[in-house]
Amino acid sequence: MVTTRTPLMAGNWKMNFNHLQAIAFVQKLAWTLKDAKHEYEQVEVAVFPPFTDLRSVQTIVQADKLDIEYGAQDLSEHDSGAYTGDISGEFIAQLGARYVLVGHSERRTIHGESDEVCKAKVDAAIRHGLVPVLCVGESLEERESSDNPADVSIAQLKAALADVKPGTDIVIAYEPVWAIGTGKVATAEQAQEVCAAIRGALGELLGEESAAQTRILYGGSVKPANVASIMREPDIDGALVGGASLSIDDFASIIRYHSHVGT
Ligand code: 13P
Repeated sequence: MVTTRTPLMAGNWKMNFNHLQAIAFVQKLAWTLKDAKHEYEQVEVAVFPPFTDLRSVQTIVQADKLDIEYGAQDLSEHDSGAYTGDISGEFIAQLGARYVLVGHSERRTIHGESDEVCKAKVDAAIRHGLVPVLCVGESLEERESSDNPADVSIAQLKAALADVKPGTDIVIAYEPVWAIGTGKVATAEQAQEVCAAIRGALGELLGEESAAQTRILYGGSVKPANVASIMREPDIDGALVGGASLSIDDFASIIRYHSHVGT
């Protein structure tokens, strides 16, 4: 079975940049990548701004015909109704977004999102034509107390994808919690080990073809200096980048990892 998975470099801005800063950032990123002759078919680029920036990002992407994709950082499991403060997948899809993050560890820990909620959000994303980027990963405590570092990720994956049909476009992001914002990146071997196990579990859940087509990203302290070694691993198809995605130079360099893959 020959499958080519287009690498995806995704910038999760978290709660950074207002809508004016978002416009300036996306414009500058596009210029920088154009100067570097970046080919978006080779490496896809996506940003995940706060909700309040999405309309502005849509406007600049459409007006300048940019190839940069964008998505939201969360969505409601519900479609509409009395859910103060929540945002429907329908609204996000209406803004031309392609992706939505589901189950980021900051949502799971700070907002107490359970596996059941993550499942409902994955289903809601798919219902509205969005590609869910499901985040999974273990805490340091969980890694140290288990024989298999992939156990937590696989349990989260199985719970969230229980009703997903084979062939559905989804993305998985393996983000070990101990590596997020800590500067402690997982080694390429550690990341590959869990991403390979995730691909195996996808095979059981959705069949081998879907497993071979689904992109699995690594996230957690990805920087220009470590992206090349991570991207050399066979089961890692891109990165979900936090801090370094807020710097044009760093994010562009991560996107252009091919140019420093020998480093
Ligand atoms: P950092 O790259 O800042 O570690 O954040 C990773 C992350 O949480 C991306 O979703």
